[in-house]
Amino acid sequence: MKQPILVTYRSVTGFTQQYAQWIAEALGGACRPLADLSKDDMAAYGTVIFGGRFHAGSVDGLKQAKALAAACQVPRFLVFATGATPAAAQDQIAAAWAANLTPEEAARIPHFYFPGGLRYEAMPLGDKLMMKAFSAMLRRKKNKTPDEQAMAEAITASYDLSAREHIAPLVDCVTGME
Ligand SMILES: Cc1cc2nc3c(=O)[nH]c(=O)nc-3n(C[C@H](O)[C@H](O)[C@H](O)COP(=O)(O)O)c2cc1C
Repeated sequence: MKQPILVTYRSVTGFTQQYAQWIAEALGGACRPLADLSKDDMAAYGTVIFGGRFHAGSVDGLKQAKALAAACQVPRFLVFATGATPAAAQDQIAAAWAANLTPEEAARIPHFYFPGGLRYEAMPLGDKLMMKAFSAMLRRKKNKTPDEQAMAEAITASYDLSAREHIAPLVDCVTGME
């Protein structure tokens, strides 16, 4: 019998994949990379949860996941994103969501942010170069806000903010839907 819950993800350095696996374990669902899914695969599930990383302000893979979910008329579709931003930076996170979901989508699609981190050792060269440019831009910036100052210091090396406990609001949301 097919499992009714699917957690699908796009992950480059592993943080989003780790969260997807934690969520699938907690909910007893399947866990598969978005790249491996066909429309027929997704259509077999009643609840689909997509996770992607924030990448220069956009949630990687969200457009494709939304299109696939709409094409399959998935009854329940939820989204989570991971990033280098600490969970406490709520204004930044709200602004990032506003850039990725229309107000109608934000009201309809439950969405959650989980802190990931940075893993330079697993990053492709293009991402490393983008991070280098971002880091240089932040260092040069005058009158940095406390958040910008903290970010400028944090991104000089790899760090890991991920923790299983962050998935609780999403797990509760799905459990409450059943
Ligand atoms: C080039 C680049 C751009 C990024 N842009 C953002 C961003 O806009 N906001 C954010 O919070 N994190 C950003 N990050 C951090 C990633 O979202 C974070 O490392 C994420 O957890 C990676 O997920 P993954 O390990 O599943 O690939 C960026 C990372 C890279 C390499």
